[in-house]
Amino acid sequence: MTVTATRLGSSPITLDWSNFIRVPTTTSTGAKAIAPDSQTYLHEWTEGWEKLRGRFMRNEIGFYNAPIDPELSQIEATEALAAQILNSKQFTDCLFLGIGGSALGPMSLLSSLQEHCKTKMRFHICDNPDPIDWKATLGRLSPDHTLVCAVTKSGTTFETVAQLLIAMEWLGKNRLKSHLIAITDPAKGDMKAFATQEGLATLHISAPIGGRFSVFSPVGLFPAALAGLSLSEFMLGAKQVRDYIEKTPLEKNPIFIIGQEMIRQANQRSIHVCMPYSTRLRLIGDWFVQMWGESLGKDGKGFTPLAALGATDQHSILQLLRDGPDDKITMFLTVDQVEDEVKIPKLPGPTSYASFKLLEGHTLQELLLTEYRATSLVLTKGGRPNLTLRVDKLDERSLGALFFTFSFLTAMTGTLMNVNPFDQPGVEEGKIYTREALMNS
Ligand code: PA5
Repeated sequence: MTVTATRLGSSPITLDWSNFIRVPTTTSTGAKAIAPDSQTYLHEWTEGWEKLRGRFMRNEIGFYNAPIDPELSQIEATEALAAQILNSKQFTDCLFLGIGGSALGPMSLLSSLQEHCKTKMRFHICDNPDPIDWKATLGRLSPDHTLVCAVTKSGTTFETVAQLLIAMEWLGKNRLKSHLIAITDPAKGDMKAFATQEGLATLHISAPIGGRFSVFSPVGLFPAALAGLSLSEFMLGAKQVRDYIEKTPLEKNPIFIIGQEMIRQANQRSIHVCMPYSTRLRLIGDWFVQMWGESLGKDGKGFTPLAALGATDQHSILQLLRDGPDDKITMFLTVDQVEDEVKIPKLPGPTSYASFKLLEGHTLQELLLTEYRATSLVLTKGGRPNLTLRVDKLDERSLGALFFTFSFLTAMTGTLMNVNPFDQPGVEEGKIYTREALMNS
């Protein structure tokens, strides 16, 4: 019997792709085709994996080894600086400036683990240089008690630098050394040069760790440490998925199976919906959109990523997913256990309201998971492919494993598609035109 669901080794993640590979695609002749056996692709996967692994081992690409290499992750320097800041007891708020890969990892990590944060630090992540939002944010903060954290790998991104310049004026020259932290490339860029000249506290994003893969660097780790989250547990989750990848024969590894099947279905189904059934995981959808869109959208290839939220969007896009064009694949994220499932009470006295009565004695968590199963069934019965990534519970280890699984899925899928998943020439071109326009104005 073909295995279509498995736990990723000792990690807290289970992947279930039963409703993905069994749902047929329609070929150009109108015939129905389902996924071929993994063995069909073994040669291609072996070649692709050797190529990608070579890039990891030559230290061209850093996220893969970050969970086992503290030099790459900079975990020790990050923990030490966060401890120093927390021990100073000077700061109540952290104004975090960064955009794209320098914001989406921290935003989604912090919002997923709100209940696990052990400090009272309040985070204000300003990615968009929107004057209205900026003024409103600053209006809530006091320069004495705010730590400004400027995050930019290139050190030149205008959205971040513009907000940094205003934030520095707001802080005042005397507070710069004590209230401003730079997270940037170890050698290159204006931010690095400025931080060195001003003697600012600085954390380095190791050269081989690129923007959207940087949650396993101080970009994700520093705010996590300031929030009192366990960095070692976060990295352990990532390592457990890495160990699984290292030990598992390629033909049995669902990450390869899923990536390949997305490529096989690409002509028909090029829209990929990430739909967590967890409000806390909502921003993971935004992180996924950047990861999937920016990494794979190249050379006329790629997928259109969409973020949705279950159960909310059952009342929004489910109709389209079932009966609209058959051009989508839905990826559900679910959480198996929560601390308090929240029991739904019984109405006092006898009741004749059937829908009220059906819910009696159940919990919100049961309802949410029941809704997920119902949605998956709707799609499967309608011949619409879907797959599920389940985490045991929301904690640091699960989030590390989740980010790592998607990062690896992206890297491997891009390699099999023959695109470079680690660059972003379109984004860079936009930066060049902005620079030119600023120079001419
Ligand atoms: O993934 C990427 O490399 C980009 O999305 C960058 O993260 C984004 O453009 C911000 O770049 P930087 O960190 O250099 O300011």
